[in-house]
Amino acid sequence: MNPMSIRDAINNSPRESFSPSEPLSVVGVCLDEDTWSVLKQFAESAPLIRLRSHLSEYRVQDTESANDWLGTPAPDICIVDFDRDRRRAALAAESIHSAAPETAVFAVSTDAQPDLIIQAMRSGCSEYLLKPIGREQLLNAVARVGGRRKERLQPFKAQLLAFMGAKGGCGVTSVVTQLGAMLANSFSKKTLIVDLHPDFGDAALYLGLTKYRYHFFELMENNDRLDAELLQSFIAHHSSGLDLIPAPEGNDAPRRILPGAVAQTFEFLRMRYDFILVDMAPGLSDENLEMIRHCDQLHVVTVSEVSALRNVVRHLDYLTRKEIPRERFRVVLNRHQKRALISDGEIEKTIGQKIFWKVPNQYAHVVKAINGGDPVAQLSSSDVTKNLRELASSLGAKPSAHEKKKESSGFLGLLGRS
Ligand SMILES: Nc1ncnc2c1ncn2[C@@H]1O[C@H](COP(=O)(O)OP(=O)(O)O)[C@@H](O)[C@H]1O
Ligand SMILES: [Mg+2]
Repeated sequence: MNPMSIRDAINNSPRESFSPSEPLSVVGVCLDEDTWSVLKQFAESAPLIRLRSHLSEYRVQDTESANDWLGTPAPDICIVDFDRDRRRAALAAESIHSAAPETAVFAVSTDAQPDLIIQAMRSGCSEYLLKPIGREQLLNAVARVGGRRKERLQPFKAQLLAFMGAKGGCGVTSVVTQLGAMLANSFSKKTLIVDLHPDFGDAALYLGLTKYRYHFFELMENNDRLDAELLQSFIAHHSSGLDLIPAPEGNDAPRRILPGAVAQTFEFLRMRYDFILVDMAPGLSDENLEMIRHCDQLHVVTVSEVSALRNVVRHLDYLTRKEIPRERFRVVLNRHQKRALISDGEIEKTIGQKIFWKVPNQYAHVVKAINGGDPVAQLSSSDVTKNLRELASSLGAKPSAHEKKKESSGFLGLLGRS
């Protein structure tokens, strides 16, 4: 997605009125005199911002000390002038963004060339203000930061559950889409699936969702500008009530996701859902590692095959070496059969921990669910459905009233006693 189109979408959307409880702290970097005095007047006339300091040089070498340089706590907003030296300004913006991801970075400049704006946005700026800065322009930009701060102060809510295959084809997307549809439909839980594949994700296909414009990597690139309205343009809605943010199609240019973007984006999403299920690509990419560090539980989905089980062991060893607590890992054995060549006991001995969940092998059911694009239509009494319903309950979800009624209308229902 073109960053300009996102910026335009934001700028054209109506804002709720903004009245922060305390002013947002602002640090200026290399601002010219006129811009600094516009800011001063703005701060004096409205109690929305408080000017903290003005730094007269771009510090780009010592990224480590960006926090000392900006002062602690990090300011809410850093306004960087791009006119004195564009390259150093971009580097400074980038180092502020990575040292203090919660700080909003605004670029100011006289130059309105689209490629320069895009470049500034890529270096982590969430706003591009044209000189001379107008009051309205500044007010809108500050209001957006205030709105996001208000949202951040709300406590986290969703359980963030990540799912990764020991190798491709173990059934991650099948389990995630069916469990997600079940949580949304039978348990009336506000549920989101995020397809974290950098390309060729299948979650949208398995849910029969074809109408979407943007994908999750674009959302991460724009997380600075993220608010409830912008989020809506990224969500594909499934008839079960489940929400999905899909993966890129696979024909996009490779992306450079800034460190911290995964965690920051999920922090925002967590406030809006009861459950977030993440469909991860196999492997230990930077995004996957950040996801694993940030999630509540990592479900390693495997099948009872030597190569997959060997990968489970390798993954768990590697992640333990990376100091991720062992309690975070859950091994899900998919396509489970009672009389398998490798026994459950042998598997547990190999992986060095208990199997958390076993999903039965039922190819016909799973394929029907995939081909129909609607896991809920398949919520019959199949073994996989029953099993995933129990999994949903074990995650703490309680069946909704209409689901309870359906459950009790089995045998008693036939007798007219439910
Ligand atoms: N519980 C199951 N029983 C039988 N077949 C399954 C089961 N779960 C998944 N499959 C099959 O395994 C294949 C791969 O599943 P998929 O969910 O796409 O895996 P992944 O997302 O891990 O690559 C699909 O053809 C699917 O039908
Ligand atoms: Mg998949």
